[in-house]
Amino acid sequence: MKEEKASVLGVVGSPRRGGNTETLVDEVLRGAMEAGGHTEKAFLSEMNIKPCRACDACSRVGHCVIEDDMVALLEKMKGSHVWVLGTPVYWWGPTAQMKAFIDRWYGIDRAVFRGRGVVLVVPSGGGSSYARQTVEMLESIVPYLGMRRIATLQAPGTSGPGSVKQDRALMSRAWKTGRDAVKGK
Ligand SMILES: Cc1cc2nc3c(=O)[nH]c(=O)nc-3n(C[C@H](O)[C@H](O)[C@H](O)COP(=O)(O)O)c2cc1C
Repeated sequence: MKEEKASVLGVVGSPRRGGNTETLVDEVLRGAMEAGGHTEKAFLSEMNIKPCRACDACSRVGHCVIEDDMVALLEKMKGSHVWVLGTPVYWWGPTAQMKAFIDRWYGIDRAVFRGRGVVLVVPSGGGSSYARQTVEMLESIVPYLGMRRIATLQAPGTSGPGSVKQDRALMSRAWKTGRDAVKGK
């Protein structure tokens, strides 16, 4: 029987094209692709993803009733074995785009998350202590929803777009993380 091709979805929460988040997410996806995986990428700031409005309709009808780009993105999420979630640190937290995206998980059937592999990508302008709260938030959500954290790739001290490329060790770790994620699915 032919084995199903592993699928990896990158979700970029930075509004900056070619920024450090996208650069690292791309490198994870490149590793995944070169290991034979299928890859896709969503760039949140170019999508229409409205914030949760706490209408609680999801608890009555079983899904979120807001009709925007989250509907299509959720299908991509369901079709992927591994999600690469990237956000830079903005004021000790994730970007507004990433927070709105995660808040919308409130209305998603928990079965969607269970066993899903997750790679976290968190660049910050300051040292790694500035990323502590963001990393802690994301690393708390992953097991809470029954997901499996594969790796957290932090990129402290990055500012100019793509400056993370200068950190060869981190870029190599990102590539290997993608490659290994496909092998381990
Ligand atoms: C609005 C804004 C807020 C930021 N807040 C922080 C912060 O609180 N701590 C920090 O270390 N870096 C902060 N940064 C810097 C970014 O995290 C850093 O430049 C990162 O590499 C940007 O990633 P990107 O290129 O993917 O956009 C902030 C940047 C912006 C634009």
